[in-house]
Amino acid sequence: MPDVSVVGGSGYAGGELVRLLLDHPGVTLKQVTSERSAGKFVRSVHPNLRKRTELKFSSVDRLEPCDVLFVALPHGVAMRKMAELRRRAGVIVDLSADFRLRDPADYPKWYGHDHDHPELLGEFVYGIPELHRQELAESDLISSAGCMATTAILGLYPLYQAGVVDTRQPVVVEAKTGSSGSGGGPSLGSHHPERAGAMRSFKPTGHRHSAELIQELTVGGEVPAVAFSATSTPEVRGILATSHVFLKEPLPEKEIWPIFRAAYKDEPFMRLVKEAGGVHRYPEPKILSGSNWCDVGFERDPNSNRLVVLAALDNLMKGAAGQAVQTFNIRCGFEETTGLEFAGLHPI
Ligand SMILES: NC(=O)c1ccc[n+]([C@@H]2O[C@H](COP(=O)([O-])OP(=O)(O)OC[C@H]3O[C@@H](n4cnc5c(N)ncnc54)[C@H](OP(=O)(O)O)[C@@H]3O)[C@@H](O)[C@H]2O)c1
Repeated sequence: MPDVSVVGGSGYAGGELVRLLLDHPGVTLKQVTSERSAGKFVRSVHPNLRKRTELKFSSVDRLEPCDVLFVALPHGVAMRKMAELRRRAGVIVDLSADFRLRDPADYPKWYGHDHDHPELLGEFVYGIPELHRQELAESDLISSAGCMATTAILGLYPLYQAGVVDTRQPVVVEAKTGSSGSGGGPSLGSHHPERAGAMRSFKPTGHRHSAELIQELTVGGEVPAVAFSATSTPEVRGILATSHVFLKEPLPEKEIWPIFRAAYKDEPFMRLVKEAGGVHRYPEPKILSGSNWCDVGFERDPNSNRLVVLAALDNLMKGAAGQAVQTFNIRCGFEETTGLEFAGLHPI
């Protein structure tokens, strides 16, 4: 049974990792780190874990060797600590953005600074199982994907793979995200009077997750033009990505269905959602809270070659900790769904 530890376990993504790993039948959770809460009970920061664990936070300096290390540090911090962290564990699953992009030139372009360890970039496998399952099974270094990037990529990937997208036109992606996506650190933007009830455009252009879409949706050397905008909404959890993609040919919906079915019919966490009637006709994040599902749906615009693709997930689950555990399961030979079977709640 592998020993696992979580670095950055007092944060939102780290807390979700701790919750999942405590319930995982194949692992022993050894250590959880926090600098500000070192020495305190994990439950003092994550009250949902009362009576589930007697673990206390350790400082990252006191991290002992383990088999697998989940790293949930802010970007920039993970980059600086990675060389040291690698000495503590055989397998690393990093949730930060620091090792997601393969081209070092993308870091100054999208993150505004050079990469401290560009030599490591080629060693990490991008952690979306639906795209890179085989490589993940064989890699000791896994870089979990961005939450909004995962949502949009999973909606669009089958279409790019099938070669039906008119790549001369940009794909326009509008991603709506709840407040937990920006982590547990307080800021004026997350202060309750400023954030509560607000539907706020916070990155109409230049969002960093654009780089992940460009990287992962490039097929056969054809680089997509990605026009990505991000909006915050009043929910705590959840992302809905609405993508407008233009098709090469005026394919009817009955020819689009088989493309999505072929891509996702055997995927344990992908569901195609498109109902003829009722309230829940398209993917929506609310019913996915706490689950590892990613729901994808679409609608063909009858007046143009536009296809509207809708994808939804819980940013802390399939967008972060859930997907990280899914990749861990693949890497360590567990059933992919182990510890991730929760269906979500309705109503919620
Ligand atoms: N939130 C999401 O929806 C989401 C989704 C996908 C990926 N991610 C990624 O996951 C990572 C964590 O995100 P989060 O939302 O959980 O952030 P967060 O709530 O702000 O948590 C950050 C964690 O990092 C620790 N930390 C910060 N600076 C540190 C330092 N210098 N040395 C050691 N530990 C330090 C904090 O510990 P202290 O207790 O000491 O402050 C805390 O445990 C980020 O890279 C983020 O991009 C987040």
